[in-house]
Amino acid sequence: MATDDAVSRLVEALTLEEAGRLVSGTTDPAGRATGYLGGVDRLEVPPLTLVDGPLGVRIPGESATAFPAPIALAATFDADLAREHGAALGRETRAAGADALLAPGTNLIRVPQGGRNFEYFAEDPVLSAATAAGVVEGIESADVIATPKHYVANSQETDRATVSAEIGERALRELYLPSFRAAVAAGAGSVMSAYNRVNGTRMSDHRRLLTDVLKEEWGFDGYVVSDWYGTEGAVDAAAAGLDVEMPGVPMGDEADGADEPGDDGDDVEAGDDGTDGADGDDPADPLPPEIARGMPDPETCEPFDEALPAAVRDGSLPRERLDDMAARVLRTMDRVGLLDGDRAPADVDADAHRRLTFRVATRGSVLLENDGVLPLPADADVALVGPAVDEAVLGGGGSSETTPETTTTPREGLEARADGTVTVAPGHPPVEGISMFDFLGGDDVGGDGGDGENEPGEKETRESDDSADDPATDDAADLDAAVAAAEVADVAVVVVRDATTEALDRDGIGFPDRQDELVEAVAAAADRTVVAVAASGPVELPWHDAVDAVLLNWYPGQVHGDALAALLYGDADPGGRLPVTFAPESAYPTADRRRFPGVDGRVSHDEGVLVGYRWFDARDPDPTYPFGHGRSYAAFEYRDAALDVDEEGEEVGDVAVTVTVENVADRDGREVVQTYVRPPRVAGVDRPVREFAGAESVAVAAGGTETVTIRLDDLAFSRYDPEAGWTVDPGEYVVEVGRSARDARIELTVER
Ligand code: BGC
Repeated sequence: MATDDAVSRLVEALTLEEAGRLVSGTTDPAGRATGYLGGVDRLEVPPLTLVDGPLGVRIPGESATAFPAPIALAATFDADLAREHGAALGRETRAAGADALLAPGTNLIRVPQGGRNFEYFAEDPVLSAATAAGVVEGIESADVIATPKHYVANSQETDRATVSAEIGERALRELYLPSFRAAVAAGAGSVMSAYNRVNGTRMSDHRRLLTDVLKEEWGFDGYVVSDWYGTEGAVDAAAAGLDVEMPGVPMGDEADGADEPGDDGDDVEAGDDGTDGADGDDPADPLPPEIARGMPDPETCEPFDEALPAAVRDGSLPRERLDDMAARVLRTMDRVGLLDGDRAPADVDADAHRRLTFRVATRGSVLLENDGVLPLPADADVALVGPAVDEAVLGGGGSSETTPETTTTPREGLEARADGTVTVAPGHPPVEGISMFDFLGGDDVGGDGGDGENEPGEKETRESDDSADDPATDDAADLDAAVAAAEVADVAVVVVRDATTEALDRDGIGFPDRQDELVEAVAAAADRTVVAVAASGPVELPWHDAVDAVLLNWYPGQVHGDALAALLYGDADPGGRLPVTFAPESAYPTADRRRFPGVDGRVSHDEGVLVGYRWFDARDPDPTYPFGHGRSYAAFEYRDAALDVDEEGEEVGDVAVTVTVENVADRDGREVVQTYVRPPRVAGVDRPVREFAGAESVAVAAGGTETVTIRLDDLAFSRYDPEAGWTVDPGEYVVEVGRSARDARIELTVER
C-alpha cells in the first residue's frame, strides 16, 4: 500500500481536468463493467471497474456463481457465514477483473411488497447490521471494494427516484442507519447513495447525511458513489459530499464495447426515463407507466467531469472539495492494492463456491410448518407439482440478475435423491419472471446468455407462456393431472414462487396467477402435502393450515434443486429463521397509503420505530409467523442461562448472555438462539415492546449440548433521543432468550 503522503502527492499532481475525470463515471470501454472510472494515465493511476451485485457478479455474457438471495443469508442469523459469503463474492469479483462490487444491499425491509426485498437482509437493524458487516468484511478481504447501498431509506421501488421518505430522526438513527454504520465500521471502501429523498432532500445532495453523519460522525474516509443516474446537478451533489457520479449502463447492442466515454446518450440505458427506447424496437415508445415510476431521469444528471472543473474555476466549488473527492477515490483504490499492484490472489475455487452456496441455501431455508411429514423417507413416492418444478429460482429482475454456470432444478434435485418414484405433474404453467430490463429494451446486461434456463424476465420463459397452443404448456397447466398424481402418491411436494424486480414493487404479497388454487386442490387430494416456497420476502400463505409442511427457500440460486432435495430428505437441517415478519398484507403499517407508496411524492414514516415485529408487538393480531420463527428437524431445550456484565474488560458495560442448548432429539440439528431486550417503561417515552439484540446459530449433535454466548453492547439497551443522542434509561431490562420474537424460553433481568 502506498503511503498517505503518496496519495496526497498524486492529488497535488492532478490538473483540474484530471481530478474532474477521476471522479466522473463513464462506460467501460470493454463493455463489461457496470461502472468505470478511467484513472489518470499520465500519473499511472489505473482505471477502477465496478460491477453488480448482491447475488453474484454480473457481467454481460459471462457466467458466475449465482448465490442465494441476501435475504436467505440473513435468515441464517450467522455473521461468520455472511463473511464467508462476502469473501466468495469478493474473489469472484477479482477473478472477473473488477475492483468494486456494488453490494451489499442493506436497506431495511420496511414494505412487504418491496420489489428488491430479496436483495436486502431484514426488517431489523441489528440483524441487518451484523449481516452487512460480515459481507463487507468478506468482500474487502479479497481486496475488492465493498459498496453498501442504497444510502439511505430506499425502502420502495415505486417512485424511487423522486419520492421523499419523511422520517423522524429517531427512526432514522434506530432503524435505517445502523446497517450502513456497521458496514462502514467493517471497512467498506465505498457507499452508494440512494435515488430517493429523505425529508425533502435528494440523497445525492444530502449534506447532513453524507457529510455530517457518514463522513464526520462515523469517520468514513472512502468515496460515496451515486446510484446510476442518481444525481440532480453536479455542484450541489459534490458540495454536499457525493464523491463519484455515475451515469446509466448501456444495454443490448450498446453493451458491446463500442461506446465511448462522453457518448451522446442515445443508447438504451438502465436509468432511462422512459422518453425513448421502451422496448428496444421503437425509440419513440414511452416506458409503461408502472416501470417509469421506478426509473431515474438521465436528463437531470450532470457529468462531474464537465461541471466540476468549471465550478472550481468560477468559485462555486472549493478546489479542496474536488481534491478531497479525488483523494477518497485514490485512497480506496490504494487500500485494495490498485496503486501498487499488491493485491490478494484472484483465484476462485468454483467447487468450493458451489458448496458454499449449498450451505447458505440450506442454512437460510426456513421450515415454517411441519406436522412430522418432513423429513421424507427416501422411498416415499412423490408427486412433484407446481410451476417452479423445472427452474432454479435465481433471483428477481434488475441489476442483481446473474448468469450461473450450472443450475439444478427441483425436478433434477428430487430425481437424483429419491429412492421412491417421482411423478412430475406441474399443474400450472411456469410463473413469468419480471425484469426491469425487459421494459427498457435490449438484452439485459446479465441474463443467462440464452441457454434456456428459466430466469426472471427472460425471453424463453415468456415465449413459452405466450404459446397457448403449445401442448407442453397445456400439460404443464393440467390441474387435474396434478391432482391425480397427488392422490396416488405418498406425499405431494408443491413448488410455488413469487416474481419481482428492481424498479417495481410487487402489486401484493400473494402468489401470482393461480398457485393458491393449485396448492388447495393438491392438499385436498393428497395424503400429505409439502409446499416449497421460492419467495423474495414476506408472502401470504392462505393455505398454511391445510398443508402438512411449508418450507421457505427464498430465492435459492443455482443450487435450488440440490438444496431442496437435501432439506426434504433430511440430509440438511433447515437452519433459517425469519428475518421478516409474515402476516397478511393488510396488517403491516404500510397498508396505509400515506406510508406506502406515499401521497404527493411523500412517504410518511409516522409509524416511527414500529417497523416489522415492533409494529406487530405493539398491536393485535398475531402475525402468521413472527420474526425469528423457524423449525429444525431436531428439538432443543434451553438451560443454565446467565448474564455477565463486563465490569473491567475492553467493552466495559457490555452484557454477555450465556445459555446451554440441549438437542433432545435423536438427530443432529441446528438451533438459532436469539436474544431480545424488553426495556423498562419510562414515563413519556414510547419504546417497542422488545428489540432483537443478537443471536448465535449453533449445530448441536443428537443428544448433545452446546453452550453459546451472545454479547449485547450498549446499543441493545439504548434509544435515540433527538436532543441527547443515544440514551440508556436507567431501570430494569428483561433479556429474553428464545426461539423467535414470540417464543421466549428464558427471561433474565439486568439493571442499567
Ligand atoms: C441500482 C443499483 C445498481 C446500479 C448499477 C441501479 O439501478 O439501483 O443497485 O448497482 O443500478 O446497475
